[in-house]
Amino acid sequence: MNLTGKNILISGGGGYGVGGGICKALHEYGARLIINEICEERIEAVLKAYPDAIPVIADVSRYAEVEAMFHRLEKEVGIIHGLVNNAGVGLSQSAHETSEAEFDDLYQVDIKGVWMMSKFFVKQLLQHQSGGNIVNISSVHAHATMSRYAVYGSAKSAVEGLTRGMAVELGKYDIRVNAIAPGYVHAEQNYDLIRTWTSEAEQWVQDYIQKGQAIPRAVQPEDCGYAVAFLLSDLGKSITGQTICVDNGDTIKLSGV
Ligand SMILES: NC(=O)c1ccc[n+]([C@@H]2O[C@H](COP(=O)([O-])OP(=O)(O)OC[C@H]3O[C@@H](n4cnc5c(N)ncnc54)[C@H](O)[C@@H]3O)[C@@H](O)[C@H]2O)c1
Repeated sequence: MNLTGKNILISGGGGYGVGGGICKALHEYGARLIINEICEERIEAVLKAYPDAIPVIADVSRYAEVEAMFHRLEKEVGIIHGLVNNAGVGLSQSAHETSEAEFDDLYQVDIKGVWMMSKFFVKQLLQHQSGGNIVNISSVHAHATMSRYAVYGSAKSAVEGLTRGMAVELGKYDIRVNAIAPGYVHAEQNYDLIRTWTSEAEQWVQDYIQKGQAIPRAVQPEDCGYAVAFLLSDLGKSITGQTICVDNGDTIKLSGV
């Protein structure tokens, strides 16, 4: 895989989880990282690891900020060849207990943000008369889920619907649109979410990895990054509208047997 000379924008790229693994893999394969974040502290930390990266603070859930970000990047960077829609928020709450504000906040980032980022990304590609690539970060919860994840899973299902539909619309411009659906990718802050349904968070993660997955080892952030790098690279040039589960065989396994 070779991403040398490619300007790739990663939303939420200052994250410690999937976002961190994506930056690591794309950097390894030669891409020029353009890292979007809502959080200044996180972007400062990630710039220490990638001093040549271009930081861009913006909230992907706000239309005006997304538009301003692409105007700024057009002037400062020129064409953006690839977009990874990684920024996302979680929610551990039953659908019937979810408040309107929780629902709106999640959908605003997890699906509307993906649409807005993709819209402005595609417009600049068309202006440059260039092909390009989008990789969206979905989740296994779009395929098989558990209690408290209906709302989150529905937003990720919408991400996969958008992925397929935009792939159909944009194929004629040589713009590919794909997604990855990570399984459980550990980050310390995940324990806070898991503690909403069990006091034994560490044990729950171990059981999930050992019994829930076909391959009983943790999915590492960079495993997601390598799948993204492949989809962005020319090795994936005939793949569009697809979702690859990066889940150590979690979604293919019957539970309890
Ligand atoms: N961690 C997992 O187990 C897992 C599993 C499946 C899917 N995912 C998906 O992977 C993606 C990354 O999640 P993660 O948990 O690995 O976290 P991450 O470590 O990649 O962090 C996400 C980053 O997004 C940033 N962000 C949040 N809202 C933003 C906004 N409105 N604008 C710009 N940046 C914003 C945060 O500051 C954070 O740095 C999400 O889309 C998530 O739904 C995660």
